[in-house]
Amino acid sequence: MEKFLWGTATSSHQVEGGNFYNDWWEWEKLGKIKTKDSSHPACDHYNRYREDFELIKFLNNNSYRFSIEWSRIEKREGEFDEKEIEHYVDMLRELRKLNIEPILTLHHFTIPMWFKEKGGFLNEESPKIFKAFVERVVPYFKDYVKYWITINEPVILAILGYMFGWWPPGEKSFKKSMKVIRNLILSHMEAYKVIKTNRKESSVSIAHNMMLFYPYRNFFLDKKVVSYLSNLYNNLFLDALTTGIIKKPFGKNEFYSDLRDSIDFIGVNYYTRIFVRFHPLKIFQERKKRGVVLTDFGYEYYPEGLYEILLNLKRYRKRILITENGIADKEDKLRGDFIKKSIDAIKRAKEKGVDVFGYMYWSLMDNFEWLEGYSMKFGLFEVNFETLERKPRDSAYIYRDIAKNYNF
Ligand code: FCB
Repeated sequence: MEKFLWGTATSSHQVEGGNFYNDWWEWEKLGKIKTKDSSHPACDHYNRYREDFELIKFLNNNSYRFSIEWSRIEKREGEFDEKEIEHYVDMLRELRKLNIEPILTLHHFTIPMWFKEKGGFLNEESPKIFKAFVERVVPYFKDYVKYWITINEPVILAILGYMFGWWPPGEKSFKKSMKVIRNLILSHMEAYKVIKTNRKESSVSIAHNMMLFYPYRNFFLDKKVVSYLSNLYNNLFLDALTTGIIKKPFGKNEFYSDLRDSIDFIGVNYYTRIFVRFHPLKIFQERKKRGVVLTDFGYEYYPEGLYEILLNLKRYRKRILITENGIADKEDKLRGDFIKKSIDAIKRAKEKGVDVFGYMYWSLMDNFEWLEGYSMKFGLFEVNFETLERKPRDSAYIYRDIAKNYNF
């Protein structure tokens, strides 16, 4: 029988350190993050990955999801740094040696500065630009990688960077964010083709942030808002990747035959649910229910929600990998229970016929949490950012035990 994948997830900019040529480094220098933290040296994973793979072994994990940093590999457009590519090949080789199945993300939020200056994913040409990058790197990695994530949380990237303006490039336009979503869909399509041409048996997806929306009140309009948001947020992207149709809230839909069925499984990132209510001026408003438990991030603690998310995805008839699931919990009071409840949710979904084949906890260790810097502690390993020492939290022992003994 195929072994369930037990793992953790990280992303290059959040753990590596030394990423001086991407849009997030610039964002940080512009003073746009909430803390005074610097993403250099972060966890220094770039230099310490061998030691960090020991931590993965300690967790009895047989898988690890991480990302390559585009701005290291292609610092200037068209100039590819073989040494940087070799760095990631070495990581992959090492993982294989340790019998750890790599899950490789090609794009996790950050873009090289040269691409940012060309408009990033707002640029009509961005699918072509991304394709050129993917075409160049995939041949190096293909012998080591079966599971690929082309793009991490495209919808979050479009919303936070182009609708709310909290993330780079700081745009505040619904129209622009929809354009970015479209270009990210096409960028995925291009990457999918490249990967499959390089290695037919590859299994390719995106990592999609899934939000559980609930009506704040039992009102018709609140429920309407929920179904509108849920469709836009959770389904628009996946619908495109399965049907080939890019639905536009305004304007004409587009169809691409290469887009149809361009995912082999669904990567799910699940963190929380939110209650929303209709608001005449803003369309909707988020509202916390009284009495709910909050994580350090201010999200509702609701691991059970993963069950509903998984059942909602049944209609796509695809295998599912939990590409991220985690909790910011400095005191480590809730994390162990969060993991147990999440796994129980997976178990119940599997019993209902949802084919989940792996679980990646976010994250292996504390890291640079975007706008929040190091203030949010997601790690199974606590990191001392002065000495860079890693220490297992109690929940690491819980996950370690699950990975060793749990059977669905
Ligand atoms: C997800 C991101 C990941 C990390 C976690 C906490 O949305 O993919 O990089 O920031 O949230």
